[in-house]
Amino acid sequence: MNQNYTYAVELKNVLKRYNELVAVNNISLAIKPGEIFGLLGPNGSGKSTTMKMLLGLVQPEAGSVHVLGLNVKDDSVAVKNLVGYAPESPHLYEFLTGIEFLDFIGDIYGMRAEEKQTRINEYLKALQLEGREGDMISSYSEGMKQKIALIAAFLHKPQLLILDEPLNGLDPRSARIVKDLLNKLKLQGVTTIMSTHILEIAQAVCDRIGIMYQGNILALGNMEELRQMAKLPSSGLEDVFLKLTGTGDVKAVVEELFK
Ligand SMILES: Nc1ncnc2c1ncn2[C@@H]1O[C@H](COP(=O)(O)OP(=O)(O)OP(=O)(O)O)[C@@H](O)[C@H]1O
Ligand SMILES: [Mg+2]
Repeated sequence: MNQNYTYAVELKNVLKRYNELVAVNNISLAIKPGEIFGLLGPNGSGKSTTMKMLLGLVQPEAGSVHVLGLNVKDDSVAVKNLVGYAPESPHLYEFLTGIEFLDFIGDIYGMRAEEKQTRINEYLKALQLEGREGDMISSYSEGMKQKIALIAAFLHKPQLLILDEPLNGLDPRSARIVKDLLNKLKLQGVTTIMSTHILEIAQAVCDRIGIMYQGNILALGNMEELRQMAKLPSSGLEDVFLKLTGTGDVKAVVEELFK
């Protein structure tokens, strides 16, 4: 891979507000090529907004965003060519069949017909959609739609994957296949940034994890470093997460609710 950059993703002092609301509060983040980076954080903490800024889908108000050595502000088309994105609520063309949609996506990226077909078939098989590819997307289950969105992100062999809650709705076997795939792609130098609420997945798959809270990156590191930050030396990610995001007293909240 021809790499003339140190970081696959580099955010510097990035700020994004929606009217008065600060969605992303002056964050800086650098992710190395080949890393699998997990973004965690409670609902509304700024994960999706951060990911959208990496693609130029949302413009930061201040700061700079570089992806694969390109400034997203100046080169957003080039960036989109090199990146695979699976949004948290994908908009699929429901009146197309699965195969028609993936074919269309392959064409957008200018894939050669033969390679496109081979890759689509491989992914349909791996994610157990074989036999359903000729059905309209509107007839798919949520998990099946999610698989189509993931295949659409992987199809053109992107160097960076931006996956917003990619394993949502996937059955355990499919989730495992996607996790294995991310690890395989990592060996080829592909970088992944993914958000998830499933802490076991982050723990199992991610090299490093950033915990966002109210638009800030509250903590950043590998599991060992996060444990130390939370002063919970032998805990799993759930305890670390709850402690760092200040919602550690979940038990009290639940007790209050069911009083
Ligand atoms: N298009 C928008 N217009 C106005 N406010 C927005 C918009 N998109 C996001 N926000 C606000 O920005 C904040 C961050 O939202 P974001 O979607 O980035 O959170 P998130 O961490 O991805 O949450 P979740 O875990 O629920 O997916 C939230 O307060 C949200 O209401
Ligand atoms: Mg989100």
